[in-house]
Amino acid sequence: MLIFAHRGASKAAPENTLKAMQYALQMGAHGIEFDVIQAAGQCWVIHDAWVQRTTNGHGRLDQMTQAQIRQLDAGEGQQVPTLFEVMALVGNRCVLNIELKGITDVALFLKQLDSACDTLGIEYKQLLLSSFDHQLLAQLARLRPELARGALTASCPLHYAAFAEELDALSVHTDVAFTNLEFVQDAKARGLKVYVYTVDEVQDMQRLKSWGVDGIFTNLPDRALAWLQQA
Ligand code: G3P
Ligand code: CA
Repeated sequence: MLIFAHRGASKAAPENTLKAMQYALQMGAHGIEFDVIQAAGQCWVIHDAWVQRTTNGHGRLDQMTQAQIRQLDAGEGQQVPTLFEVMALVGNRCVLNIELKGITDVALFLKQLDSACDTLGIEYKQLLLSSFDHQLLAQLARLRPELARGALTASCPLHYAAFAEELDALSVHTDVAFTNLEFVQDAKARGLKVYVYTVDEVQDMQRLKSWGVDGIFTNLPDRALAWLQQA
């Protein structure tokens, strides 16, 4: 079972910051999940469209200039990083699960992603692009079929695996509160990987592993990896 650090190691350091990514790497996470929103012609690693929950600023990210975003403190003196900066830090050391939260210009996103991969020597096989935006996933399937895509659902209805299969996704990403054995079996029978968020409790890890779940997103990758070693 793969252990993805959720928003980086987000209990050890402020979420979606380079510090959280660094901790995740030090802990030995198999993958790192982080959120991306476009604004001012750049891809920023941040979860919310409004900056006040995770930074010392106020207002909408997409109404700020690059200079204004750069001035934000995302906690412990960390800046809001760009997609490129996170990719540069992580490199090919683990899977990069880029959750697309606010992509308004797909062509620009792909151009910047390709440029980062070229510059940093990161291969597509290290990337997993996921989103709750299924139209975007369908668009990516047409534009870049070779990029692995993960279909995110908040509620995990049983028919979702069939939908993800039609989207030609590699994986379904489901909420731990709604994921059940019937769903996991259906998804796996369709050849889909099942990745579950957000799993911090060992008893949930145990149950999901016994169901054959392929990976979990956790705020505590150190706990999950220690458990996995002795499981
Ligand atoms: O990608 C899994 C999970 O992060 C999706 O929910 O709100 O934490 O981005 P959220
Ligand atoms: Ca996320």
